Amino acid sequence: MSDQYVWFEGVPFPSKYLKCEIIKEVRDKFVLQDEDIFTVAYPKSGINWVIEIVCLINSKGDPKWSQSVPIWYRSPWIETKDGNELINGKERPMFISSHLPFHLFPKSFFSSKAKVIYVIRNPRDVLVSGFYFWNAYLHTQKAESLEQYLHWFLQGLVPWGSWFEHVRGWMSLRGRENFLVLSYEELQKDIRGSIQKICQFLGKSLDLKSLDLVVKYSSFQSMKENKMSNYSLLHHTYLDPNTLITRKGVSGDWKNHFTVAQAEVFDKVYQEKMLGCPPGLFPWE
Ligand code: A3P
Repeated sequence: MSDQYVWFEGVPFPSKYLKCEIIKEVRDKFVLQDEDIFTVAYPKSGINWVIEIVCLINSKGDPKWSQSVPIWYRSPWIETKDGNELINGKERPMFISSHLPFHLFPKSFFSSKAKVIYVIRNPRDVLVSGFYFWNAYLHTQKAESLEQYLHWFLQGLVPWGSWFEHVRGWMSLRGRENFLVLSYEELQKDIRGSIQKICQFLGKSLDLKSLDLVVKYSSFQSMKENKMSNYSLLHHTYLDPNTLITRKGVSGDWKNHFTVAQAEVFDKVYQEKMLGCPPGLFPWE
């Protein structure tokens, strides 16, 4: 892989926005506070959707905040240069985001009551979404084909490393009181129920009118039209101008992209790498 990446403990990160010193400091020295609310996911699992929902729950469905402040200021990324500066700045934000694998997450999590929402998604859809996104991102290595990207993905040679290790690591925390697992598929299937689940986890309640507003303003269409959430503000410096983070917004798009042979290769590696995970743990299985 090229110098567009920095490696830290076997994980590649885009060097334009991440530095090993910051990642190390986050893991070893960052002190979580009990009030912190983290949204965490492997890239392209739908993390921005969940961040938007969390922000809207906080404003009881009023979209003023989410339509006037970029999503990366509302919930900054702890491991990026800019996000880390904001988090350590004068006013600590209530919401924080991260793509870090579990072994690089702040150690202080274990002695705090900070809450983590971990978002998962069918890795086949994560792969397809990542193929388009990283090819449009201006500072990472471009795959020539889905076939090439599939091999990189299966080996963890993509930004933030191996999906398998990420999910296995984080899922080992399930059952903890301050840890909620939410899947992209359940958000698609039952958005109202999922929002209520998040509310319950955060100790918040919404009346029916506010719940309707959260549903409305976190919908795919609303997020696609909201320049504070669709990443269009990052065009030219970060993303190809024809790309929005809201690409297709469906489950199962991988079936339009994988050949039968590619699906078989993926399944074989998936079986090997996820061996020992309890049956029924993931909605896509
Ligand atoms: P696709 O590329 O499959 O369309 P992340 O936020 O982790 O980068 O994930 C991006 C994926 O989440 C994209 O998937 C994007 O379309 C999808 N997404 C973002 N907001 C969404 C929403 N409100 N509803 C459904 N999907 C959404």
